[in-house]
This record gives sequence, C-alpha cells and structure tokens, in this order.
Amino acid sequence: MTASPPDARLARLRGRLERADQAHLLRFYDELSDDERSRLLDQIEAIDWETIPDLVRTIVLHPPDSGDLGTLEPAPYLPKDAEGQWDKDAARHEGERLLRQGRVACFTVAGGQGTRLGYDGPKGCFPAGPVTGKSLFAIFAEGILGTQRKFGGLVPWYIMTSPLNDEATRAFFREHEFFGLDPDQVRFFPQGVMPSFDAKTGKILLAHKHEVATNPDGHGGAFRALVESGATQDMRTRGVEHISYFQVDNPLVRVCDPVFLGLHASSEASSGEMSSKMLPKRDPDERVGVFCLRNGRVAMIEYSDLPEHLARRRNPDGSLAFGAGNPAIHALSVDFVERVHRDPAMALPFHRAVKKVPCVDLESGERIEPAAPNGVKLERFVFDALPLAHRSLILETERVEEFGPIKNAEGEDSPASSARLQSERAARWLESVGVRVPRRPDGSVDATIEISPLTAMGPEDLADRTDLPREIERGARVAL
Ligand code: UTP
Repeated sequence: MTASPPDARLARLRGRLERADQAHLLRFYDELSDDERSRLLDQIEAIDWETIPDLVRTIVLHPPDSGDLGTLEPAPYLPKDAEGQWDKDAARHEGERLLRQGRVACFTVAGGQGTRLGYDGPKGCFPAGPVTGKSLFAIFAEGILGTQRKFGGLVPWYIMTSPLNDEATRAFFREHEFFGLDPDQVRFFPQGVMPSFDAKTGKILLAHKHEVATNPDGHGGAFRALVESGATQDMRTRGVEHISYFQVDNPLVRVCDPVFLGLHASSEASSGEMSSKMLPKRDPDERVGVFCLRNGRVAMIEYSDLPEHLARRRNPDGSLAFGAGNPAIHALSVDFVERVHRDPAMALPFHRAVKKVPCVDLESGERIEPAAPNGVKLERFVFDALPLAHRSLILETERVEEFGPIKNAEGEDSPASSARLQSERAARWLESVGVRVPRRPDGSVDATIEISPLTAMGPEDLADRTDLPREIERGARVAL
C-alpha cells in the first residue's frame, strides 16, 4: 500500500527529525486535530534541519568561548563637532540631496519581544511622548513627515515585525490612519524565527502540543527579511539607495539625519556600506557594546566580552580608550544588505541567550511556566555585519540629542528616563533660541516638555518661529 500524501509528509518530516535527534516534537501528534497536525508539520517543515544538530552542539549546549577576540584597538570615529576633521556642510548638502531625490528609506526593527518593558502589545505602540502620550510609531511617523516637508522627497518606511506582533502592528497603523503618512509608503514584513531549545538537553521546546516554541531571530534577521520580503526590491524600484536604520525603542532618534546620511553616502566606502553613530560611554561599567577595531576591522564588542582592563583603560585626557558606545543607529546601503544576505560566506553568527520559555512537559503533557530560565534562544545581531562592510564610518553623537531608549519598566532606559531626556533636549533647543526654561539647582529641567518632530527636528528649526512661549513655567507640561 502506498502512503497517502499526508502520511508521506509525516514520514518524511519524521525522518528529518530523527536525523536531527528532535523526534520528540511529534510526541503528541496522535492527540492533535487535523488542523493542529497540519500547523505543526508546516512549522517543522520551515525549520532548516541541516543546521540544527551543529547549532545544538556548538552553541545551544555550550556557551561559545568569546576567548580569542584577536587584536582589539579603539575604533576611529569622526568627532561630532567636525573640529576641522571633516566637512559638515558638505555632508549636510549631500544628505539633503539624497533626501530631496528620494534616495533614502527609513527602516525600523520592531520584531523584538520587549520582555523587559512588559508592555502588552508591540513596543512601537507604547506611549512614549511625555506630555502627549504619543506612541513611538507616531513619533517616528512625524519625523518622516517632517523630513519630507523639509527636504521634499518621499521617504518610504519599512518596518520589520515578527510573526508574534505583525498583525497587531498593522492594525495599530490602520487604527491611526498611518499617522498622516500615505499607506503606500509604509511596508511591514515579519522577520524569521528560530526554534527555542531546552538549555540542558538541546531538545527543541514545544510551546504547545501542536506548536514548536520559537523566538524572533534577532535584529540581525533584518538582512534576510529585507531581501526575502521583497523590501530591497521595492526600494530599488523607488530609487532608494540608502537605509536609515533605527530601533523601535528610541523616541529621540533623528529618523533621517542629513549630515550622517551624507557622510555615509559620500565616504570612500564605494558610497558607504554600513555606517554607525556612537555615544561616549558614561562609565566603564555601562552595559553597552563598544565599537572597536578587531584585527583591523570595525566590530562591535559586547560589554560582557570586553576584557576588564580594556574597558577601564583611559586616554591621556581621561576619556575611556574603549568608550565608543553603540546606540544602534546605522546607515546601510541597499547593495550591502543584499550582499550580506546572498553571500553564504557573510552569514552572521548566532548568539545565545538563556531565557524563560514557557513549554510543554514532554512526560506529562502539561504546560509549564518556568520560574527560572530554562531555554536557549538563538539570535543574530545586526552589528555583526560591521566587519563585512568594505568601509565602516563612525560618527560621534550626543546622548541627550539622540538616545533615550525605552527598554525597562523602571530605572535606567525606562519610560521615565526617556521622558527626562526628551524634556532635556527640548529645553536645550528652546534655550538656544532664547526661551527661558526652569531648572532645578542640580541643573535638571523643572518641567515636562515635548517637541514634535513636525515642529522641529533640531534647534535650527525653532529659530524663525514666532509662536514660541518666552518662558516655560516651573512644573509645566508643554507640548509644542
Ligand atoms: P532589544 O535587544 O532591546 O530586545 O531589541 P527586545 O526584544 O525589544 O526587548 P527584550 O530584550 O525582550 O526586553 C533592540 C531592537 O531590536 C528589535 C527590537 O524590536 C528593538 O527595536 N529586535 C530585537 C527585532 O526587531 N527582532 C528581534 O528578534 C530582536
């Protein structure tokens, strides 16, 4: 008797699972409905089984040794004020030309799970405006609208979601009528996922009897997702050459910074492949990756991998020698994104994170909410592409101007700290055009101030405004 097609499929996939030592994924198959069976088989079919045994052996069961980092030197960067080292006006002109001609797209990575913030919904929907409660997505949309108004060209916006938040993200945009953008200029696409593994055994976890536990494959999954979703092709059709990359959690980001984009595009890097902004680290213990030259190539070294003696080394002027922190703001050329995706030699490595992964107990069939981390998630990181770029330019920026991320519910990098930074930046801009802003004895702003990117994207945009208050009252909440 020949096997019916579903049985043949089951047999084929069972064979693959057995070869990869993961046959337990079918343990509850007989108990499932037809619909659940086919969903489970679809999920199993989508996994790259050729690579799984190697990943389990080399990463899942043993944290890879970051031991030999090769030679590490501080990465060179361009100082924020140019200081005669680079031509800011030329960079700005080039960036403005690219924006005017529609050669730049925005790209937001919004596929993360946002577990630390604990917000119920895609993180981009989080109310980040300290006075208006505007969502992160709304703030970025206003940045794009403001850019278009100022420079003329269209700025398409690509948003990487994950299968977990894709529909909710799209619904949020529909509900808010795309925040005034043309729906045709906004494109969503989900990133890929990786199976999550049992940290002790290396077995892939089941989230439910009919569902493999998976996690988004990291922001480094962007290269694949951008190409395979057709986003880079869409960019080419529109004449876009460069991508302004930012994370969904940073309301202070300048979505299209002409100076940075101009520098990136006109660098010697055969028109710039991957450029980065950098922030001086606050202190040696700040948990942020650092730009280095690793064996002569620009690379990001995670704070946990940077040897202690290097993290503490100081320059003669007292600044940290390895102090170039990463705010995750990049410019990428469309060519580079496609090259990284297509060339197998450029495949980005996986990183291992041990996290709590709810799963089904294989003996009892009960679902477990683990009290302690039990699972290994594998993720790729976008910054691992840095050494692959022919030339990688780094531009210094200032924290208060561009980096107030919302990652944690409280404390550092929280909604409260981001709100303080947003007010501080707004205060600076207002003071630069003569508005009096109340400050406490310690210098902090004694008011909550929010400036929409539609009002100003930098202090220069406030210079000609006649409708600004002369003074902000102590304790006031002001949205401009
Ligand atoms: P984070 O490293 O802060 O991770 O992501 P996260 O998933 O948002 O939050 P936690 O760690 O669970 O609390 C930095 C940026 O990268 C995106 C996030 O959406 C955020 O913009 N990201 C992260 C992805 O797009 N995909 C991923 O798989 C991971």
